[in-house]
Amino acid sequence: MCGIIGVATKNKQAISILLEGLEHLQYRGYDSAGIAFIHNNGIQIIKSQGQIEALKQKVDLTINSNLGIGHTRWATHGRATTNNAHPHQCGKITIVHNGIIENYLTLKEELQQKGCVFQSDTDTEVACALLDDYYAQYQDMKQTIRQFMKAIQGSYAIAAICMDEPNTIYAIKKDSPLLIGTSSNQNFIASDIQAILMHTNHYYLLDDLEFAIITADSTLFYNQDGIEIMKEEKEASLSANSASKACYEHYMLKEIYEQPTTLKATIETVTKLLKTNTSLLSRLASYKRIDIVACGTAMHAGLVGKYLLETYAHIPVSVELASEYRYKQNFLDPQVLVIIVSQSGETADSLAALKMVKEKHIPTLGIVNVVDSCIARSVDYVIYTQAGPEIAVASTKAYTAQVICLSLLAFSIAKQKNLLAETQIEMIEKDFEQLPELISALLANRDDYKQIATNLYSHSDIFYLGRGLDYALMQEGSLKLKEISYIHSECYPAGELKHGTISLITEKTPVIASATNSILDDKTISNLKETAARGAPIYLITNNVSLSNDPSITKYILLPSTTDFVLPILVSIPLQLIAYETALVKGCSIDKPRNLAKSVTVE
Ligand code: F6R
Repeated sequence: MCGIIGVATKNKQAISILLEGLEHLQYRGYDSAGIAFIHNNGIQIIKSQGQIEALKQKVDLTINSNLGIGHTRWATHGRATTNNAHPHQCGKITIVHNGIIENYLTLKEELQQKGCVFQSDTDTEVACALLDDYYAQYQDMKQTIRQFMKAIQGSYAIAAICMDEPNTIYAIKKDSPLLIGTSSNQNFIASDIQAILMHTNHYYLLDDLEFAIITADSTLFYNQDGIEIMKEEKEASLSANSASKACYEHYMLKEIYEQPTTLKATIETVTKLLKTNTSLLSRLASYKRIDIVACGTAMHAGLVGKYLLETYAHIPVSVELASEYRYKQNFLDPQVLVIIVSQSGETADSLAALKMVKEKHIPTLGIVNVVDSCIARSVDYVIYTQAGPEIAVASTKAYTAQVICLSLLAFSIAKQKNLLAETQIEMIEKDFEQLPELISALLANRDDYKQIATNLYSHSDIFYLGRGLDYALMQEGSLKLKEISYIHSECYPAGELKHGTISLITEKTPVIASATNSILDDKTISNLKETAARGAPIYLITNNVSLSNDPSITKYILLPSTTDFVLPILVSIPLQLIAYETALVKGCSIDKPRNLAKSVTVE
C-alpha cells in the first residue's frame, strides 16, 4: 500500500509532475497525501488529510521547482491525520516511504535516548531519523544508506532527499515495489509505471537491497555493498490513456464494460502460450496435486479454478488463503504445483507464501496481471492475464481474466490427458470464441440491475447462496457487494444454511443465488424455497429456463446455456453490476471504498 513518486527535472515543473503522478497512485491508498520539493534553497513540505484533491487545494502551482518527492498513504502506524502523512523530515533528511519498518520501536527508543523528538506516530519518521543520524556520522549518503539497510527490518520503498544535495533523490528498496523512470532532462522514481507514463515508458526495476541515485540527467544503481551495478532498461507497452476513465462515471464501471475485450485478449494469449509451449503443458498435466494460493478476489478465482481442474482435468486442488498458507504445515513435494494468483503481483502475503514455497524447491506458476511485478519475476513460470490496468479498488476485469486463465488451464490439461470427447472439445472451443459476445449481451441490460439495486440498497444484510461452482462464484459476488456498498453480506453453500444460519433469514434479508448446474439445481431451489418461506425476497441467476416459472423467486436473471468453462464469467457479470448499481444508489465512493487500497503490500 501507499504510493510514492519522485522527480528530478530541468523543466521546473516538479510540483505538477508530483501531483499528477499521485493521482495515478491513489489506488494504493488515499487517506492522506503530501509532497516535498526544493524551493528557495530549502525543502518545502505540504501535506493534507484526505485524497489528493485536498492536497491540491493547499499547493501553489505557480512555484517553480526542479526536484521533489510525493506520497499517498494507506495508514498502518498512526491514524490518517495530516501529522502522520508523509513526507517526514528529520534534520537534513526528508523521506516518503511505502512498507513497514518492523523494528521501529527498538530503533525509536535508541534514537530517543540520543535526544531525538518525534512528531508523528509513524514508523516512517523513525526511518527518517535513523537516516539523519547516520548522515550526521558519515556525511555521505551512500554510506548512510548502506548502514540503514543493515539496521532496518521490514519492507521499504523509500525516496529520500538530503538538504546538502538539492539536485539528488535517493531511492532505496526492499520488499516493496520501486522503479526508476528515465527520459531526457528528467528522471523519476515511482511505485508503479502508471504514475509517470505521461512522461516516459522507459524504466529500470530496483531489486531488493539495492539503491539508486537520481538527478535530472543521471541514474546510478548500487547494491547493498555500495558497488555500482548495471541494470537492464525496460519499456512498458502501456500508454498514458490506458488508465483513463474515458466517458464512464467510475473506473469500476469502465472496467466491467471492458471485459469483452480483456477476456478476448486473455483467451487468445493464454491459448497461444499453451499451444506453442507444449513442454509447459505436459509438465502442468503431470502434477499430482495443485495448491492455488492467493488473497481476496484472487482466491475466489482460485475456487472456480479448483472446480474446473478437479472436475475436468482430474487433478486434486486445494485453494488456500496466502495469509494462512504461509504459516501452516503444507505437506509439499516436487509433485505438487503451487499456483499463485495475483492481479498486482505484489500482495505481501502471496509474495511471502511464494518465497516459503520456493525455499522448499517446489515448482511454482504465477497467474499475474502486472508485468514484471515481484510475483511475476519470482515464479518459475508466469502466465500474464491481459486485463490491462485495473484502477478501481474492487476487482472485476482482473478477476474474470484470472478465472478464464484457470479455465483454459483446466481445458488444456483435460485435452492433453484425453479426458474430453471430440464433441465436448468443439463445444468448449466455440464457447471461448463466443464469450465476448455473450458478455456484451449481458452488459446491455444495465437497467435490470439498476432495478434490483433499488430493491437492495436499503437493506443491512444480504445473503448469497449457491452449491458447487455457484457457491464459488457467490463468494466473490458477496465480497463485491460488501466492499463497495458497505452492506453486510454473507455467502453460504445453499445446503448448509439450515444448520444454523437460517435463523437470520427474515423478510429483511434478501437472498441472491445462482443455480446453473442441472444436477444440483433442484436442491438449490429447495433451499431457496426454505428462505422464501421465511419471507426473504430471492434474486436468482440461472441458465435453466424451467426454473423461471417458480413463484417463490422475486426476480430472475436468465443466462444463455454454455459449458462450465465460460459459465463462471457469465454469472459474474450480473453479480458485479448488482454490487455496482447498489453502491451507486447508496452514493458510496465506488472506486475508492473506505479503509481499502488496491495493492496490499502489508501483512
Ligand atoms: C477485492 C480485491 C482484493 C484483491 C486481493 C489480492 O476486490 O481486489 O480482494 O483480490 O487484495 O490482490 P492481488 O490480486 O493483487 O494479489
